[in-house]
Amino acid sequence: MAFQTIRGTFDVLPDAHSTGGAEIPGTAAWRWVEDVVRGVMERFAFEEIRTPVLEPIDLVARGVGGTTDIVQKEMFTVERSRETYVLRPEVTAPVMRAYLEHHLDQRGGAQRLFYVGPCFRAERPQKGRYRQFHQFGTELIGADDPRADAEVIANLRAVYDAFGMTDTRLRLNTLGDAADRPAFRDALREHFAPHAEALSETSRQRLETNPLRILDTKNPDERALLADAPRLTDFVGDDARAHYESLKALLDGMGVPYVEDPLLVRGLDYYTRTVFELESDALGAQGALAAGGRYDGLAQAVGSKTPVPAVGYAAGIERLFLALADQGVALPKPLHPDVFLVCLGDAAEAAGFGIAQTLRAAGLAVDFALGGRSMKAQMKAADRSQAAVAVLLGDDELAAGVAQVRDLGASEQRAVPIDQLAVELTGEDSAA
Ligand code: HAM
Repeated sequence: MAFQTIRGTFDVLPDAHSTGGAEIPGTAAWRWVEDVVRGVMERFAFEEIRTPVLEPIDLVARGVGGTTDIVQKEMFTVERSRETYVLRPEVTAPVMRAYLEHHLDQRGGAQRLFYVGPCFRAERPQKGRYRQFHQFGTELIGADDPRADAEVIANLRAVYDAFGMTDTRLRLNTLGDAADRPAFRDALREHFAPHAEALSETSRQRLETNPLRILDTKNPDERALLADAPRLTDFVGDDARAHYESLKALLDGMGVPYVEDPLLVRGLDYYTRTVFELESDALGAQGALAAGGRYDGLAQAVGSKTPVPAVGYAAGIERLFLALADQGVALPKPLHPDVFLVCLGDAAEAAGFGIAQTLRAAGLAVDFALGGRSMKAQMKAADRSQAAVAVLLGDDELAAGVAQVRDLGASEQRAVPIDQLAVELTGEDSAA
């Protein structure tokens, strides 16, 4: 029986390949994305954090929130002895756990953290939506200043600018503080009460448990009812309002474009005040390229005795690739070796092994055919490898202490003493 990747997951191969109708870029493209992200993060003085893929289920349930789709139906759980773990569906709650567990506040000042890695959600797989997907993101922990929100949003913009992606929109909103919510929920309940039968079961529940989520409904009847519903904006308290106004002024000052969307809410429970999403036409119904916001209540929800203000975002790498493809951005191809070694004869083969190691020690990428093949087959393999040069070695050459160096593009050949190969091919005179 041949095994296959499980639904909603994929392999990353040296070359791009398609699976389930989607193009999965090759490893070189993934590495390039990660390198570009790391470069921008460094310029913003964000430091990398790596947390486990397995986390305690309670961290996710309390952090992300019991009323969310993620916790109610999308967690991959792992049972071990009497414990239940989850494959992390996102990285914000894990980063906050790490911050509290290791007292990162003691490093002084706000902590600027970033991450790159896999997340897991048992969603229905479709274009741009996987069960194992990859996020990069930032968490700026320990600052309630609107400048922290502005830094995070500027960082998000800078990452997409670094990829040359201009065709995106940043939607921005404020949810106000947790204390502003009950009044809004009561007003919404009052508004929807006469229309209870028009509401779906989920929306009726949400009205009780998580009123903001109703603003997010895709149901046309419910959307119609929302038209004259109480507006969240009117319930945002003075402090949160002033915070939001400062953030907008900072973004304007930096020239970071955004559009305000008073109906923007998020699918995770921990947000307070600022929320934002970066969207692209390339994605359509697949949702956002990246999203985030402020989550001043998360630390206490996962056990901190004191509040820890924080703000961050996460971005989906698979969706970034979709948007890059839509914009026609060429992705890096697999790297080719510098040298392909072709050895004919037993003595040459034996010596070839040593030559390969010498050239590698000098920093060259060296490939050679395994399995005693004919000259013709080896030359074919050399061409296929797209190496810059082939180094040809037969027993006669070996006896004379020279090798033939063939430029595979120009098909030119010259004899080079074996002990000079590394110097010749690296273009460096190591004796100098
Ligand atoms: P999120 O909106 O759940 O937020 O996910 C962030 C991004 O991850 C999405 O915009 C999308 O690009 C990508 N994503 C999510 N689910 C999938 C999936 N099933 N397949 C492919 N891509 C997906 C968070 O995760 C928050 N932790 C963001 C945050 C960080 N807020 C504050 N700090």
